Amino acid sequence: MIRETVLTTRSGDGRIHIAPMGVHERPDGLMIAPFRPSATLDNLLREGFAAVNCIDDVRVIAGCLTGRRDWPTVPTARVPGARLADALSHLEVVLERVENDALRPRLLCRVVREDTHRPFRGFNRAQGAVVEAAILVSRLHVLPRDKIERELEYLTIAMDKTAGPREREAWDWLMEKIETFRRRQREACA
Ligand SMILES: Cc1cc2nc3c(=O)[nH]c(=O)nc-3n(C[C@H](O)[C@H](O)[C@H](O)COP(=O)(O)O)c2cc1C
Repeated sequence: MIRETVLTTRSGDGRIHIAPMGVHERPDGLMIAPFRPSATLDNLLREGFAAVNCIDDVRVIAGCLTGRRDWPTVPTARVPGARLADALSHLEVVLERVENDALRPRLLCRVVREDTHRPFRGFNRAQGAVVEAAILVSRLHVLPRDKIERELEYLTIAMDKTAGPREREAWDWLMEKIETFRRRQREACA
């Protein structure tokens, strides 16, 4: 099973790097698989630890993909570094093993601490829609335009029916990014 989370890792100069990333649940721990190049990958390989944040404010996910990476963090307890201040829960993990790959190495991690900070209040379809749209945005260069259009049209239904202000703000950031990408494509072709 893959859970869509936000990883916080520490960069060489001590800054906290925030990035959405799928985390694979394995019987022996968690597997994280960043595509190269990736700051998260570099940080995990160098420092050997990370925090895995479970969130319900999807602005963090949309924000990371649209140049808004500055979300509040607080120090972690068992590993050096930090977690998202607003996380519902978080795991602290240490890197145990690397399965190397030129495109997408697999980082096997052991959970050394788990904390819950706020209750999970139930599924929200608009949050799911923002996560799906964020994945589309992260793959704008590789996905065909009509696939993106079709998927966005479907996701808009959940947005219209179930979004709150945070989900709408996150959605707007993503749509703005898609619009900018399309405009640049048009300009490059002109
Ligand atoms: C929900 C979601 C899940 C993602 N999962 C992954 C992943 O498993 N591996 C990956 O390389 N990028 C993933 N991405 C894209 C990264 O967040 C994005 O490319 C990011 O910039 C990672 O690069 P960085 O480590 O240099 O920040 C995901 C994006 C979203 C929105």
